[in-house]
Order: sequence, then C-alpha cells, then structure tokens
Amino acid sequence: MPRTALILVAAGKGERAGGDIPKQYRLLSGKPLLHHTLFNLQKAYNFDVFCVVIRPDDKNIRSVLADLCLDAKIITGGQTRTESVRNGLRALENSKVDHVYIHDAARPFVSRKLLSGLAKALLSSPAAAPVLPISDALKTLSGEAVDREGLRRVQTPQAFHYSEILQAFNALPTDESRADDIAVAQEKGLAITLTQGDERNFKLTYPADFAKAEQMMQTDSYIA
Ligand code: CTP
Ligand code: MG
Repeated sequence: MPRTALILVAAGKGERAGGDIPKQYRLLSGKPLLHHTLFNLQKAYNFDVFCVVIRPDDKNIRSVLADLCLDAKIITGGQTRTESVRNGLRALENSKVDHVYIHDAARPFVSRKLLSGLAKALLSSPAAAPVLPISDALKTLSGEAVDREGLRRVQTPQAFHYSEILQAFNALPTDESRADDIAVAQEKGLAITLTQGDERNFKLTYPADFAKAEQMMQTDSYIA
C-alpha cells in the first residue's frame, strides 16, 4: 500500500463568504466547517499523515484537532492558495510519503467513492483530479457559443505522486500562483487522469452556500 498524506488548505480569508471570521471556522450544525471536512476525510480514507495549513493568526486549530482526536501537522499558509499548498508539500519532505491528496477546507462533503477513484487513478498516473460536466450552455462575453462537451469543472481533492508534485511546485516561481494544483502539475509535464467528481462535493464560497450545506447535513447521511 502506498503511504498517503492529506494536505488540507485552510489558510484563506473567506472574503466572498462574508461574516466576521474566516469561513473555515463558520459553524455548521454547531461545529466549524473545518471540523466537518476533517471528520469526513478521516472516515472516508485511511490517510497515514494529515497536514492542515492554517492562517498565521489561527487560534482554533488545536481545539478542532483535539475534538476529532486527530494528530496532524500544523503548517502556516501564505498569501495565495498556491503558496499555502507549497508550504504543506514542503512540510512533508521527511514523512516518507508516496501519494498526497490536496483538499480545500471549504469542501466538507468529500466521499469515499471520490477518494477511491483518485487512489485507483494514481496506480497508473502521477496526477488525478475529480471533474464534473457542465450542464448550462456556455457563451463568451461577446455572446459566441462555446462547446461545453470538451470542458469540465474541477474539484478537490487533487491527488499526486508526492515527489513529482513537490518538484512541480518547487519549479514554479515563488511569486506566482495558479488556479489549482493540477495546473502546476501540467506545467511540469505530468499526465493528469480525470476521475468522477461529485455534485455534493461543492466548495462553500458565498453566504448562501452555508444554508445549503446546513440543509444537506440535516437531511442526508453524507458519507458515501
Ligand atoms: N486557501 C489557503 N490559503 C490561501 C487562500 C486560500 O489555504 N492563501 C484555502 C482556503 O482556506 C480554502 C481553499 O484554499 O479552503 C479554497 O479557496 P477559496 O474557496 O477561494 O477560499 P478563500 O480564499 O478563503 O475565500 P475567498 O477567495 O472568498 O477569500
Ligand atoms: Mg480564495
């Protein structure tokens, strides 16, 4: 079995979500969003190493980890998501990790099925990401139709052979950022395998997303 790490990036400000505190600490069913995400990851897959990337002013991470009885490395993030991921990757250099899964703290509804799809992809590919089709018609700003058949929405976790993704992040100029981690992998020439995403694995981004997530937690048993 490959030795596997999970990097959870939770060092953002959550500006689009509004509110007084970063969204990873907003309460859902009485617990911080971050708690739910870690709880589901813990249940859904047998990770050997957990690494949580947090804001420098984070005062709450230890109590979240204690509540979950979870032993995790705590690493400080950066100004961009790319920088936060890089810090997490570098913190695992002595952990003898074969595979690494990089996930947004803001996606609590990660499922066992999605993670096993990624694990299977990593048997034959250095990089994998879950994707979903687009159902709406697409247009450019000038109104021209865009063919959606060849386009996909990408989620996290995105999963990699550790040494390859570390090299890819190390090759990226320090002050540059990318939309996601497969973008960094692709620049380094790594082949990406696309796996089945999950509509429930959405990213809480705007205030209304919290009401939707609360509803999902009330009505579903949300681990697949
Ligand atoms: N993230 C991070 N470090 C950053 C920026 C983002 O670790 N410098 C994390 C966030 O905490 C989040 C994930 O990356 O879990 C996805 O980013 P996003 O949804 O954009 O979260 P925020 O950047 O916090 O939100 P916003 O862009 O609305 O400020
Ligand atoms: Mg952001």
